[in-house]
Amino acid sequence: MSSPARFYITTPIYYVNDRPHIGHVYSTTLADIAARYHRLRGEDTFFLTGVDEHAAKVVDAAAALGLTPQACADKFAAAFEETFKRLDMTNNDFIRTTQERHKARVQRYVAALLKSGDVYLGEYEGWYDAGQEEYVTESKAKENEYKSPINGKPLVRKSEKNYFFRLSAYQKPLLEFLEKHPKFVRPEARLNEVVARVREGLNDVPMSRTGSAGWGIPVPGDEQHTIYVWIDALCNYLTTVDTLPAGQQGEGPTPVGAEDRRRYWPADVHLIAKDILWFHAVIWPAVLMALAKCPGYGWIGLPGSVYAHSFWIAEGQKMSKSLGNFVDIEKLDGYIQRFGIDALRYFLATAGPLGTTDSDFAEARFIDVYNAELANALGNCFSRVSNMTGRYFEGKIPGPGAAVAAIPGAADYAHVAEQAVAKAMAAYEALAFDGAAAAGLELVRAVDAYIEQTQPFKLAKDPANLPQVGTILYHCAEALRVASLILWPILPHKMEELWERMGLGAYAAALKNRGSGQLGVWAKWGQLAAGAPIQKGEPLFPRYQA
Ligand code: MSP
Repeated sequence: MSSPARFYITTPIYYVNDRPHIGHVYSTTLADIAARYHRLRGEDTFFLTGVDEHAAKVVDAAAALGLTPQACADKFAAAFEETFKRLDMTNNDFIRTTQERHKARVQRYVAALLKSGDVYLGEYEGWYDAGQEEYVTESKAKENEYKSPINGKPLVRKSEKNYFFRLSAYQKPLLEFLEKHPKFVRPEARLNEVVARVREGLNDVPMSRTGSAGWGIPVPGDEQHTIYVWIDALCNYLTTVDTLPAGQQGEGPTPVGAEDRRRYWPADVHLIAKDILWFHAVIWPAVLMALAKCPGYGWIGLPGSVYAHSFWIAEGQKMSKSLGNFVDIEKLDGYIQRFGIDALRYFLATAGPLGTTDSDFAEARFIDVYNAELANALGNCFSRVSNMTGRYFEGKIPGPGAAVAAIPGAADYAHVAEQAVAKAMAAYEALAFDGAAAAGLELVRAVDAYIEQTQPFKLAKDPANLPQVGTILYHCAEALRVASLILWPILPHKMEELWERMGLGAYAAALKNRGSGQLGVWAKWGQLAAGAPIQKGEPLFPRYQA
């Protein structure tokens, strides 16, 4: 048997200087949707999220809280982990950069790079953005009047003796790589930005830091220096899966873990926001190119793609600490209490900044989307179909019957569903979750239109028409079944509830088993068994009235 396709998706690892907010929940939710979709397809999927701990921001936050950096990191790392559990994210691991497994591997990579000549000890002077822990080029500094392009605070002139990574040597290889892999950076407009900047030329970047109270991973062999937090952080994507099971030592100094995770490398998607695109689209692939040349690391390929979404703003305004308008975890919990986790997932997935423009997290928008798409379309359609099945057929969906030809428009029903599935799959692959949801919703709306057109509630007045009504309802229920499969990655809890009511609990059971999803098989038309139960129950998405 051939082994199933593999899929590896990551989120940024988040700074542990505060509690999670909508931005963090957003990226992790998107990755969760993608991971669930790939599991639904039966792929061997690995989904990684976690936290970035060795940042100066963490040292500062710790000081403000009267904690040690480690205690501060522990506190907020726990908050992130707990939040993602509560939101039922299906990450396969949660990486913390203070974990021994990570630190040991990062040191190994840096030791290899030190030997390779791509890392050297040097002196650097430039404009430093303290909030971002990043040097800004002279031209960018000037353009922004020597203020941070991210937070507007003044840039500082700074010089340091550091280890540097020879990024300048990778301009040509990177441009060649980007030309050969135009989908490496998505959406496309972001690729153009990256290519234009790489063409301008690349400066070497620091690979180590001194200071920061020694909070960081020591540079192997020179413990005065700690590894620059960005290098430490980017490596998480690799350290977490750099394990082979005992007895299977491959080439190179690979640590032994409980599981063979090297098979997941290279990652298929690094999901991030636009703020950290440069690190992911330029520095990270260059570091990997350098590492792949080191003895024992020949297995290291480059990631499939970096997808950079845009930003949420709140009620029309940029979120900031000074405005105190962050959509924080408490606010999100309020939405979950009122509308449920799936409604929040749906709003994030369909109304969020997936493309290159920012999106507004506004209550009125949330309620509009919820009522129009979840309560009125999806929830209501299921109620209608289950109601009629209850009334006319004692809650058991009749078979498709012989009356198909007599129903106008019925003949291409299977085709409509098939097209919806194809459309949704293409959208999921492109991380266009709004398009995937729209494909599911279109199918639901087609059911509504079909009910309007065939008027089963009128036909049912004459018992002689019941076989025909049965066929109509079978088509409706079958289309809803297919729509539920399309929508499951976005609305997993509600769709599992729907499966439960339609006697389809086997899907949920199969999906709990790694690699057992079968979207291709399950989505084929005509699988709902005659006599399958359909329980009405409470509305899936009760209409919200303010
Ligand atoms: N620790 C670094 C990332 C290292 S990855 C190797 C970092 N952390 S962060 O806590 O600042 O998180 C940044 C990420 O959070 C963004 O890339 C994005 O995924 C998410 N968001 C933060 N604010 C956001 C919005 N306002 N809107 C959408 N997502 C944003 O940078």
